[in-house]
Amino acid sequence: MNTTPNSNPKGLADVVVSDTHITSIDGLTGKLYYRGYEISDLAKNSSFEETSYLLFYGELPSSSQLNQYSNLVYSNRSLSENIVSLIKDFPKDANVMDFLRTIVSYSSLYDPDLNDNSMEASMNKSIRLLAQIPVMLSYFHRTRNNLEIIPPAEDLDYASNFLYMLTGNMPDKLSSRVLDQCLILHADHGFNASTFSARVTMSTLSDVYSAVTSAIGTLKGTLHGGANEAVIKMLREIKDVENINNYILAKFAQKEKIMGFGHRVYKTIDPRATVLREMSKDLQSKLGGNLFDLSYDIEQFVLKEKNIKPNVDFYAASVYSMLNIDDDLFTPIFACSRASGWCSQILEQLSDNRLIRPRAKYIGPEPRSFIDLNQR
Ligand code: COA
Repeated sequence: MNTTPNSNPKGLADVVVSDTHITSIDGLTGKLYYRGYEISDLAKNSSFEETSYLLFYGELPSSSQLNQYSNLVYSNRSLSENIVSLIKDFPKDANVMDFLRTIVSYSSLYDPDLNDNSMEASMNKSIRLLAQIPVMLSYFHRTRNNLEIIPPAEDLDYASNFLYMLTGNMPDKLSSRVLDQCLILHADHGFNASTFSARVTMSTLSDVYSAVTSAIGTLKGTLHGGANEAVIKMLREIKDVENINNYILAKFAQKEKIMGFGHRVYKTIDPRATVLREMSKDLQSKLGGNLFDLSYDIEQFVLKEKNIKPNVDFYAASVYSMLNIDDDLFTPIFACSRASGWCSQILEQLSDNRLIRPRAKYIGPEPRSFIDLNQR
């Protein structure tokens, strides 16, 4: 007895579930566009503020729109005392993505718009989340290291302020710009797993916080955002170019995935990896070390052996590490940036909503009679 439709591509591969105006991906040629603008153009020429504006509102801002929007984001950075106090009480050894999922969910309780699902209130909540996630992260990071928290600096842009709050020092121009570009590159990516879970949650007419909480939990996994931290772990284990072949061949022999490689949509190199590869190369030439060389040689070897190409997480790992960012902040930084994509997609879902509710093909036992407990 099977009353369900027959099509069930595993993992919903290549299934189109909705129209979107936000991001398009051409997996065959390796192109990614936000609202029609190519990602490499945005990474080269825009700031994260401009790009997140573009995702939210559909067009690049004029300079007065950009000023107004940036000021709106910057002025929404401050956290209520209750949230700061929970951050200070959090177990210091908590996984940072678990922290983030919990604190975002908790912070909803102090949002005056929590249960207002109008477009206007949902936009307000989106801006607050975008502004506050880096503050939450840096407060937690400093607290777990027994350091005083550094309040946000009103006059610093998104990336610079984040680095400033993490370290307590004014970042140099290069570090700010590199982080800014990383944020642009990670901001949105169509119906990836975390965005899809955000849209599913919003489609029930839940709320923006619940949707972003779902998304954070989904991003954590190593097949998604968690891959960047797994990559730096791998780079540290390999340590030297001479160890690459044995390490990778052993992974293949054990049928283990090489983190930061492969992609559901791209059949060629992920265009974000191309930009990040150049950034990694530049950073190594300025700062020294071997993380770019190591990454590049791994890329060549995996390509030669299996023809699998790097994705966004592969070179992001060496870039973040050269910025002196702790390994377990890599995926949370991805979340800071992706909050702009999640919220844009949540708003798009809300603006033309229908409950997302697919079906499964039942392959269990045929209908059968109940057997009494004493006869089993
Ligand atoms: N290392 C080794 N082999 C890989 C691989 C990787 N990183 N990615 C894909 N493959 C191989 C699979 O083993 C499989 O081979 P098979 O057909 O011989 O069994 C084939 O390529 C297809 O892989 P599959 O896992 O079915 O593809 P998917 O579309 O379901 O998965 C990812 C896509 C991203 C989950 C997958 O490539 C992966 O796990 N990558 C590593 C994690 C990662 O970097 N995630 C971040 C994504 S941006």
